[in-house]
Amino acid sequence: MSSQLATVFLERGDVRGQELALLLDLKTDDIQDAPDEWHLTIEHGKLALRQSDGNLFTFSFEDIRNRVENARWSAIAKACASVRRPKVLDALGGWGLDAIILSMAGCRVTVTEASPIVCAVAKNLAREANTPLAFTCGFVEDYLNTSGELFDVVYLDPIFPQHPKGARPSRRMQILHSLAKTDSDLRAVFEIAKKHALNRVVVKHRRNQPTLFGAPHWQITSKTVRFDIYRASA
Ligand SMILES: C[S@@+](CC[C@H](N)C(=O)[O-])C[C@H]1O[C@@H](n2cnc3c(N)ncnc32)[C@H](O)[C@@H]1O
Repeated sequence: MSSQLATVFLERGDVRGQELALLLDLKTDDIQDAPDEWHLTIEHGKLALRQSDGNLFTFSFEDIRNRVENARWSAIAKACASVRRPKVLDALGGWGLDAIILSMAGCRVTVTEASPIVCAVAKNLAREANTPLAFTCGFVEDYLNTSGELFDVVYLDPIFPQHPKGARPSRRMQILHSLAKTDSDLRAVFEIAKKHALNRVVVKHRRNQPTLFGAPHWQITSKTVRFDIYRASA
């Protein structure tokens, strides 16, 4: 299946930018031709997102170092711990934060992410974290149908519905929401995930959010989120 490549917009002669583009499998174009909306660029030698009005967003491993430190004991690691060093597909990969936590907890992780820009940022984060994630920048349905690959665990973290008390998500999540692909039928994604999971499908929810796909076999709950676990049918 074809992986979708994002474009990074560079100043002419930006050699470090060109090198990073090559590493992350990005197309390049001149900064003068950058669109108004969020686009990839290089700021002080680092990958960044920018809008034409000057809005800037950077996301580096330093921003998440504290969160990944105790990866092994995290609720997500417990929810995905089906066998020793499980092979996990993080099917809705986003910025790749959960994937990095799972990898640091000892899982062998493949990531699929449908938004090419988000996927590029996630790849860069994994590179900075020195975490061996395998990426496919594209829709998980296409990836699984084409590859036929099986995983011990398929992990799904769909975008949460609006907070019941109207709490605003962090800037990082707001930007993710504006770039995320939301056209897939999540029920269809869940069904295909079940077919490609040898042991379980794990679905992340807000702690008190109703289940998305019917009663799970069991649940693991942390302070703010809940993981619904479904035994596999593969
Ligand atoms: C809530 S985010 C995941 C956040 C992620 N767990 C993290 O740690 O950053 C959900 C992501 O799923 C992606 N997505 C939605 N449908 C998809 C599909 N069919 N295949 C692959 N990715 C998809 C969206 O673009 C979005 O980035």
